[in-house]
Amino acid sequence: MENFVYLLHDHASNRAAVVDPAWDVPAVLACAQEHGMQITDILLTHSHHDHVNGISDVLQHTDAQLHLLKAEAQFWGQGLDLPTLHHGGDVIRVGATDITALHTPGHTPGSACYHLGDDLITGDTLFVFGCGRCDLAGGDPEQMYVTLKDMAAHFPDTTVIRPGHNYAEQDTSTLREQIEGNPFMHFDDSARFVRYRMHYHGLHRDTPYGPVPRGEEMPD
Ligand SMILES: [Fe+2]
Repeated sequence: MENFVYLLHDHASNRAAVVDPAWDVPAVLACAQEHGMQITDILLTHSHHDHVNGISDVLQHTDAQLHLLKAEAQFWGQGLDLPTLHHGGDVIRVGATDITALHTPGHTPGSACYHLGDDLITGDTLFVFGCGRCDLAGGDPEQMYVTLKDMAAHFPDTTVIRPGHNYAEQDTSTLREQIEGNPFMHFDDSARFVRYRMHYHGLHRDTPYGPVPRGEEMPD
């Protein structure tokens, strides 16, 4: 699945948040230990199995608080053990580090991105030269169109993207590079975006994703 798992290290307190703990929790715990971090928080970008299957393992080894958007908890319907439920715009503080949770629906109804400093953790909303599927349960390509438009409008183009999967030849990118080369960020028409996301893309592109020149996404 090529998932990325992120550890956000607050150097002032050595507290850390793990984003989307999955698959190889021993490696995550070893990394935390090696850098003297104490994992105090778990942040979820969304509830798909490949992003959450390490939660119980992390909770066996830490007292971490689980954070997700209320909309995603409702969609998931899982009986979670005392999670902290957020709305878009909420700030999660880890030590002296402020992390803003953004509501970015499209891949799932309660998908979140997390913004801290110059970094934007984008989960399965925005990949390097790709974006999350909208054909699974709870997916909505019209919402994804709005989400990506908002993202391009609201963040400086120097913002560094940290996606939820490694689907390109590079791990990260800037928003500027994505606005220029990510075909999903080229559309100015919701209906065309929906057609591209739901039908055209899967038939015409494959990983690793690379840049697409503006205007060459899809014939009219
Ligand atoms: Fe997903």
